[in-house]
Amino acid sequence: MSSQATRVLNSQQDELDSSEVAERELCFRAFDARNCQFPAPRVPLLPRLTSVSIGLSTNRTFFPIVADTPYRFYSRGRYALHEAYSRAGVGAQGALLVPAYHCRTMLDPAIRLNGRVILYPLDERLAPRISSLARLIERSKTPVRALLLTHYFGFPQNSGELHSFCQERGITLIEDCSHAYFRHQNDGNLGKVGRFVVASPYKFSPAEDGGVLIANQGATDLPESPEMRGFSEQLRSVARVVRKNLQDRFQPDSHAVDGKLAKSGPIDFAQGTESLLQAHQISAMYEPWVENKSGLLLSRLIVQMSDADRIAEIRRANFKHWLHAVRGLPHCRPLFDELPEHVVPYMFPLYIEHHAPHFSALKMLGMPIYRWDEMAVSECPVSQDYRLHLLHLPCHQSLGQAEMDWMTGLVTKVMMEIQES
Ligand SMILES: Cc1ncc(COP(=O)(O)O)c(C=O)c1O
Repeated sequence: MSSQATRVLNSQQDELDSSEVAERELCFRAFDARNCQFPAPRVPLLPRLTSVSIGLSTNRTFFPIVADTPYRFYSRGRYALHEAYSRAGVGAQGALLVPAYHCRTMLDPAIRLNGRVILYPLDERLAPRISSLARLIERSKTPVRALLLTHYFGFPQNSGELHSFCQERGITLIEDCSHAYFRHQNDGNLGKVGRFVVASPYKFSPAEDGGVLIANQGATDLPESPEMRGFSEQLRSVARVVRKNLQDRFQPDSHAVDGKLAKSGPIDFAQGTESLLQAHQISAMYEPWVENKSGLLLSRLIVQMSDADRIAEIRRANFKHWLHAVRGLPHCRPLFDELPEHVVPYMFPLYIEHHAPHFSALKMLGMPIYRWDEMAVSECPVSQDYRLHLLHLPCHQSLGQAEMDWMTGLVTKVMMEIQES
């Protein structure tokens, strides 16, 4: 990163005035875990390649959102987003409305296009606060060209309402199905409303990569097919997949966890540091050379051979297992307290009241956790709060009973036995 464009601010000394935030350059609040020395997660965050995911049954209740529609296959959703933003007119003359609760890769493609990013607020269940959108659009000096609507954790948003809102204002609606790859046969809307739809099949199938771009106005709205990867890259990917799947299998260590917990108090868990980072620059997770490159052939094959019904069934059972396990636990609550019939969940979102010491304790004990702790500063209190307090926990189809029991048992022990600092 260039030192001119990037400034690291100490969050204690140089807080931003929230009323200025919308008119400023993007500024990220970031959690740095380098001094924590967290071990590698003991359970994979995304599905492994096992026979559980694969099957070609035709008697189906769930369908991938690409069924019966033209699409393009990229390496990741972020590169499909780049194409969607660009086609919608995001750039120096066109702004993008993005939900304030986000990961860096939702913003990177707009930054790469030199587009202005406007963060819009969400309610506690991560639905857009539609009443704020009109004010943000009026206030923007750059015309708003596109709005990203994210179906978080696989739970479909009310896209019809936003579709009308965008249509009245000539704004392109882009549905972000990165967490929502499978549609129930009775759910007519998921991935069918936005002019463009972007998805990340590698989060649902045990593939190394894979990002999808759908155009609901038809194939003529799509770009040319992305460039195929070279032969040696394809071969290397096969070797990587084989190697990864030969790695050691999970062994529960409940006694070791009990021992560590018995010996530890809240101060024994390193807490990491916080900083403010001012930068209208892409993150290290966005690689411009991968733009317009196709996903790997092996990934495409695995995604196409994935059994939607079986994946849906196991993910739904694991999500319910989590719901049952955290019911009544102190210091935490599920973001969604039930699982509607048509939802195929991506992960299980768990709100924790005390980032310290519970997040660090879980990480130190090997819990697999995603958390969007590097997030742009916004006027949305929910997103600012969720940055450190919302954990994304795995519920994918290749988790065995022992892994689910170990994870739910660990969360239970940490919440019950470690007092807040
Ligand atoms: C909600 C959401 N949208 C978009 C993306 C970008 O997807 P990908 O990882 O396929 O680039 C992510 C990445 O995790 C995401 O969580």
